[in-house]
Amino acid sequence: MEVRKVGVIGLGAMGAGIAQLCVEAGVDTLGREVTPELGEKARDRIGHFLTRKVEKGQLEQGARDEAVGLLSLTTELDDFADCDLVIEAIVEELEPKRELFAELDRTCRPEAVLATNTSALSVTEIAAATTRPERVVGMHFFNPAPLMPLVEIVRAELTADEPFETAFAFGERIGKTPIRCNDTPGFVVNRVLIPLLNDCIRVLDEARVTPEDLDLGMKNGAGWPMGPCTLVDLVGIDVHVHASEALYEKTREPRMAPPPRLVAMRNAGLLGRKSGRGFYRYDNV
Ligand code: 3HC
Repeated sequence: MEVRKVGVIGLGAMGAGIAQLCVEAGVDTLGREVTPELGEKARDRIGHFLTRKVEKGQLEQGARDEAVGLLSLTTELDDFADCDLVIEAIVEELEPKRELFAELDRTCRPEAVLATNTSALSVTEIAAATTRPERVVGMHFFNPAPLMPLVEIVRAELTADEPFETAFAFGERIGKTPIRCNDTPGFVVNRVLIPLLNDCIRVLDEARVTPEDLDLGMKNGAGWPMGPCTLVDLVGIDVHVHASEALYEKTREPRMAPPPRLVAMRNAGLLGRKSGRGFYRYDNV
């Protein structure tokens, strides 16, 4: 199916990044936030990153303006009725996602493909909230979405071939490298990355090293583009803890469980880059 109009629901860091990719690819995009102010904040964020591309000679000014012009905003789910593909990027909790999908099932046309950007929840359980689970897929982007090439296209238990391939082709169209995966806990990358990052955080205490030294170690000794503490700060300590809990619940593997140090940081509001403080301090919030 050809995707002429895409909807993105939830315009936080991930949703705004996904919407940016869509408009950069020339696709008519409707974004939804719960208030107009949050929607405008996301538009500003997208505008900012596209302006940086112009300043660095990676994008023409005209193309930037055209891309920004392709983004429209709403607070209403009814406005998604004419979208061919809707990508959900709201809070990473099962019940709110299921409620949203039940609502999208009522408002979107029957042929629309409904995608979730969940990182560790079951796509099948989200799809079960609709009367059309065969048209529900996972499209799992990585943070920061505009920069990370991968998108995991997740086939849930009842996903049909056509919507799955539509999502895969759309991933390619917006410049990503899609891979086909199944609805297993953590799909492919988080199944590996989450316990690995948890190991890194446990090593901090076991080896009594600083976050700076651990990060320097993994960057310079293992070729990581950024150290594990910097990465967990970027992902969001709340998001990481939540994904770890979800994977632990499903697999019961001790390495999946969030390290107590991260849980304590989350409880103290040290969420990483987005809150201005995690392992490191940030002044750009
Ligand atoms: N959105 C859009 N554009 C952005 C951006 C964002 N969030 N962040 C940065 N940019 C743009 C900026 O304009 C920036 O240029 P500027 O600083 O001159 O304005 C430009 O991208 C380049 O940024 P950087 O100089 O920071 O780029 P780097 O070359 O340093 O690479 C990186 C950055 C790609 C993030 C690299 O460090 C990297 O690969 N890190 C690892 C990230 C990773 O592993 N992510 C996966 C996390 S796990 C996950 O998401 C799964 C989830 O389910 C939990």
